Amino acid sequence: MNLPQRPRRNRKSVGIRQLSQETTLTPGDFIYPLFIHAGDDDQKIESMPGCQRWSLGGLLQEAREAYELGVPAIVLFPAIATELKSLDAKEAYNINGIVPAAVRALKAELPDLIVITDVALDPYHSEGHDGLIEEGEIINDETVKVLVKQALCQAQAGADIISPSDMMDGRVGAIRTALDHHGYTRVSIMSYTAKYASAYYGPFRGALDSAPKSGDKKTYQMDPANTREAVRELLLDEEEGADIVMVKPAGPYLDIVCQLRMETCLPIAAYQVSGEYLMIKSASQAGWLDEDKVILESLLGIKRAGANMILTYFAKDAAKLLQS
Ligand code: PBG
Repeated sequence: MNLPQRPRRNRKSVGIRQLSQETTLTPGDFIYPLFIHAGDDDQKIESMPGCQRWSLGGLLQEAREAYELGVPAIVLFPAIATELKSLDAKEAYNINGIVPAAVRALKAELPDLIVITDVALDPYHSEGHDGLIEEGEIINDETVKVLVKQALCQAQAGADIISPSDMMDGRVGAIRTALDHHGYTRVSIMSYTAKYASAYYGPFRGALDSAPKSGDKKTYQMDPANTREAVRELLLDEEEGADIVMVKPAGPYLDIVCQLRMETCLPIAAYQVSGEYLMIKSASQAGWLDEDKVILESLLGIKRAGANMILTYFAKDAAKLLQS
């Protein structure tokens, strides 16, 4: 054949393939979500095989291992005892609660590890919603006041990045104003900018026992059908002072990652959520997929779409794979 263009020439050897590679994955790309609880034992999470609800000791050990593998950041999610959950979710801003305690311990042990905290009421709310409820409605402005208290409490404990996942309107601006007013100008905000009302969160809600008792989250999380709405949320979050914007879930929403990449100069985070984790885990446990290869390919795809950083339950495993 007379073929001057032969793309295969750029794939002919390991070296050429390395030189031509467009996207690279490193442990420095990952944020490791970790579940914590108040007890002294590390509990296996039934809905998420391979993940645990860590005691404080277990958390410190796991965070250290990830950090030593090159993972720069973790994000904490608390399983709150039923008796501490309430309709006003006031445990969310208890400075002696398990999240502030974990932040203080982590920053004392591993000062250079970036500690991210989640802002939302669902783990603390007896109805499992991210906001306060009045006559069956999730009320926005009253909820934002509580989220601000939660964010300040986390900043006071020493969190490096505050991460609102609740999807109330105006919360990024309100949190930024309050942080600055209290002198926490160095504390960053990673906003869940385009967080979709997704069935892929099921296993996570099992891990925290935080599924909504009634209804769904569609009046605050986004419709999976929408792209332009994600851009609108992006523009608002930028204006309100977000430092990092997030797309969640990641794998089924790569077009959104790509779209936001074109619209913003801010770093983009993408969250490979519990359902995405579980699909890979269960298929490989059944012997149907090569787990290691699929983990790395799924993460590379998210990076290629335009994410700077990836929240993934595979952070430690992937870091190990990348080092070997
Ligand atoms: C709640 C929150 C959720 C996740 C992160 N923060 C669940 C939800 O919105 O119901 C899901 C993460 C995952 O599925 O891995 N504020």
